[in-house]
Amino acid sequence: MEVDRRAFLATLGVGALERMSPEDKAEELEHYMIHMLEEEHAEKEEPLSEDELEEQEQERTARRGTGSLFTSTRELEPMPLNATLEDFFRLRFAPARHVLQSANHALQTGQPERTILACLLHDTVQNLIKVDHGYWGAQLFAPYVDERVSWGIQYHQALRFYPDESTGYEYPEMYNRIFGEDYVPEPYIAAAYKYCRAHKWYMESRLITVNDTYAFQDGVDVTIEPFIDIIGRHFKQPKEGLGNDNSPTAHMWRTMADPDRPL
Ligand SMILES: [Fe+2]
Ligand SMILES: [Fe+2]
Repeated sequence: MEVDRRAFLATLGVGALERMSPEDKAEELEHYMIHMLEEEHAEKEEPLSEDELEEQEQERTARRGTGSLFTSTRELEPMPLNATLEDFFRLRFAPARHVLQSANHALQTGQPERTILACLLHDTVQNLIKVDHGYWGAQLFAPYVDERVSWGIQYHQALRFYPDESTGYEYPEMYNRIFGEDYVPEPYIAAAYKYCRAHKWYMESRLITVNDTYAFQDGVDVTIEPFIDIIGRHFKQPKEGLGNDNSPTAHMWRTMADPDRPL
């Protein structure tokens, strides 16, 4: 996907870029790219004028890190009883093009099923919350997956900023174009990278970032079908349904099932 720097900056609002930390800028770019992929007509939007930008910024009523389920008031189909991960993909995460493309790349290149599942799940928590999504995502899935899967999801947020030629992961050229060559990740990201790099599970996380780079393709639709068996083998679907199983993260699933509940 080609990212138009001006169009991207226009979505941030007047003066917003200067006020944001480097990590926030990178997060915002990833959300923007996923948004462009999810909204088929998003790329046809004309960049706004300075006045329109200022107006938009003043009218913004949600924080940027708010999950997509909370920034839209579109009607949501009720979740079935005993909701499964597939139900959430179909009714809450759809179209989920980015994660499906990334899992598909892992599948097509013969990577382990655990990696395919990690790719499939890695950014889905952005429907709930975007800020620090690696950490939120790891927590959301931890009760239901092999520990290496949630661990990998947690650290992919930091690894994006650090190249590893041995795996073919290069520092995204786009970060240089958008943020400048002097871009430095925040200290907690640098510390997370250092820890992850020296860990025996490093590749669990690294492969998520590798597959990520193949997953911003316009016009490529992948369905959930090729992953159903892998989910069946590696995702511990609770019989009561996600949200009803009293797991440490059941409340997060209930929140995504019904984001309109007032309390
Ligand atoms: Fe991500
Ligand atoms: Fe991603």
